[in-house]
Amino acid sequence: MLTRNRLIDALEPFSGFVQSAVLYNLLEHGVVEQLVVNGVSARKALESVVTTPERVDALALFLRTAGYVVDDRATDKLVRIWEARGWYQMMIGGYGRTFLEIGRGFGSPAAVPRDGRMVGIGSCEISVHDAIPLMDRVLDRRGRSYRSGIDLGCGSGIFLTTLAAKYPGMRLTGIEPSPEGAAAAADFVGESPYADRIDIVTADAIGHLENTGARYDFGIISFVIHEILGQSGEVGVRAFLRALFDTNPDIELLVIDIDYCWDDAERMRDPHRTNYYNHYFLLHPFTDQRLATKEYWTDLYGSAGLTVIDADADTPGLDETGIVTATLLRRSGTGDD
Ligand SMILES: C[S@@+](CC[C@H](N)C(=O)[O-])C[C@H]1O[C@@H](n2cnc3c(N)ncnc32)[C@H](O)[C@@H]1O
Repeated sequence: MLTRNRLIDALEPFSGFVQSAVLYNLLEHGVVEQLVVNGVSARKALESVVTTPERVDALALFLRTAGYVVDDRATDKLVRIWEARGWYQMMIGGYGRTFLEIGRGFGSPAAVPRDGRMVGIGSCEISVHDAIPLMDRVLDRRGRSYRSGIDLGCGSGIFLTTLAAKYPGMRLTGIEPSPEGAAAAADFVGESPYADRIDIVTADAIGHLENTGARYDFGIISFVIHEILGQSGEVGVRAFLRALFDTNPDIELLVIDIDYCWDDAERMRDPHRTNYYNHYFLLHPFTDQRLATKEYWTDLYGSAGLTVIDADADTPGLDETGIVTATLLRRSGTGDD
């Protein structure tokens, strides 16, 4: 029978749903930044973007009741949301509609809509915390410098500016099939000190490689190879790798992707995996993406004539789930084999 305690318990998912939707909008309108970074009061921050006084009151009371604001100032609970904003940008801005409309995908194999621009922006913001430190670690160990790089599926462009800062002589191309994503990347890169060394092209990975005469000694494909696996199957991934390594035989390719461990119930008990990866894994089959295990990818690279130069995983102190992996590849028989 429904009792007070059972009802309170049952409303937890609903409360999280409303809170995350409201927080995402407050993040995107700059309210959380004003509160957390600039130390502005909640009322002032809200008044600067919300034009109806009743709505300012409502939002201020909502934030206070939910513990994000005390005495009109941000609490540490809100600071944590600000720090984790990338997760909100990707999972609510990018995939919020996908989750809300997931039922459209029950009876139809068609992809449930997502917002590609916010997926790219949010993913890059998350990558600042996980994939970029991982990339840095692998590249520092490699100890080489590169002159011509390509980022396949560059999202908002953060990998491009990071690489441009790391290798002062490097020219870079970012390709991004989502027109809105490519525009966001062009804006971001254009405002950076590296604008003259970075080009953004609106294209998908294979389409670009088939049409360009440019040659690269370094490539990065971060959280994109599983998109290609979903879009065109293993045949498509192999075609992509062939297109890249046939035209750039000396390229080193850093693949950052996911070790798909969802059916390992023991591993999934970890709260980071339950609070985040459980939801992250769910959206993939509904949006034409296909995740695979680390073993699957390693076998595929081997059978595609590629050698693993180095491999690593995780961001110590933040993501220690073993799920975010990096693999540096080159064509077998080249380099220091
Ligand atoms: C999860 S985001 C990753 C963004 C960024 N690379 C990162 O690591 O944060 C996936 C990106 O891949 C792009 N993408 C999807 N299919 C692609 C394809 N076939 N070729 C290149 N990029 C693709 C999407 O538009 C999106 O920006």
